[in-house]
Amino acid sequence: MVTVEKLSKRYGSLCAVSEVDFEVGKGEIVGLLGPNGAGKSTTMKMLAGYLPPTSGRATIAGYDVFSQSLQARRRIGYMPENVPLYPDMRVREFLSYRAALKGVPGRRLRERTADVIELCGLQEVATRIIGRLSKGYRQRVGLADAMSHEPDLLILDEPTIGLDPNQIRAVRGMIRNLRRHHTILISTHILPEVEMLCSKVVILKNGRVQAAGTPAELRAGHGQAGLVEFDAVVPDPLAAAALLRADSSIQSVTHRQDGAWTVFSIVPKPAHDPRENLFRTAVENHWRVREISRPEASLEHVFAELTGGEDWER
Ligand SMILES: Nc1ncnc2c1ncn2[C@@H]1O[C@H](COP(=O)(O)OP(=O)(O)OP(=O)(O)O)[C@@H](O)[C@H]1O
Ligand SMILES: [Mg+2]
Repeated sequence: MVTVEKLSKRYGSLCAVSEVDFEVGKGEIVGLLGPNGAGKSTTMKMLAGYLPPTSGRATIAGYDVFSQSLQARRRIGYMPENVPLYPDMRVREFLSYRAALKGVPGRRLRERTADVIELCGLQEVATRIIGRLSKGYRQRVGLADAMSHEPDLLILDEPTIGLDPNQIRAVRGMIRNLRRHHTILISTHILPEVEMLCSKVVILKNGRVQAAGTPAELRAGHGQAGLVEFDAVVPDPLAAAALLRADSSIQSVTHRQDGAWTVFSIVPKPAHDPRENLFRTAVENHWRVREISRPEASLEHVFAELTGGEDWER
């Protein structure tokens, strides 16, 4: 649906986006992550045809976003980070006007406008003036506008920024429902949101792709992922550690005492899960077991590791 190849954007001497490559398959929800200034919005603007790339290319449904921008744009609904609405227009009037601009034929206008008003929960404010709406409702109008011409691809730049928790849930629910008919590229700073919504994640820093994959792949590839903790009462911790090390699924073992319990920290061999063997070894040797666990690295942890965030909590 979307292919991005070596896409770059320079502002003078600043390289805002640098040789970015990724793909978005039909029906996928892909999350674009990265710290402030990473190049997310710049990438999205180029895909939406609002900003010419310095080099590289991108296609939407096979159409080049620049040399065939008309065809490409017809297939894209773009919600920019600061939704530029017409503050003096009324919601329904605005949506209908925009849909007409984007080529929705006259006979379909009324029906389509009613549909997006309902989809985005705007019935109550349909006749209100946009400039007097709350931020959450303005975001919804932006989303309704992005989808009014039934695009195949939605590009949503931080659609939940500035919303209260109820509105965030409502917008998320909407996005999840949209997945049935649309492919979605979304940027956000809310990492749990990514885990809830996205089938794939692209992490940017300083305009470059740091990592890409499913949330599970990213978690598995970083930090303490895969480490297994095993708590047992053993007669001789050193001998027990040696016994565990002999297991073909285990790479290394360290241990410490916690009262009567020995806590083993076990690094499995790549792509191995030693937990079943650990249970068997414990049973065979009559060890008492308190816990076998494999704490997962969170996406937040992966993000911090890849983008080198300062740790404000320290
Ligand atoms: N019109 C412009 N002229 C000059 N520099 C720009 C312009 N627009 C963006 N930049 C710079 O390009 C870089 C990438 O900006 P961009 O807005 O794409 O980041 P972002 O990942 O969307 O950040 P945020 O999370 O803050 O929205 C930044 O360093 C920014 O200052
Ligand atoms: Mg941005």
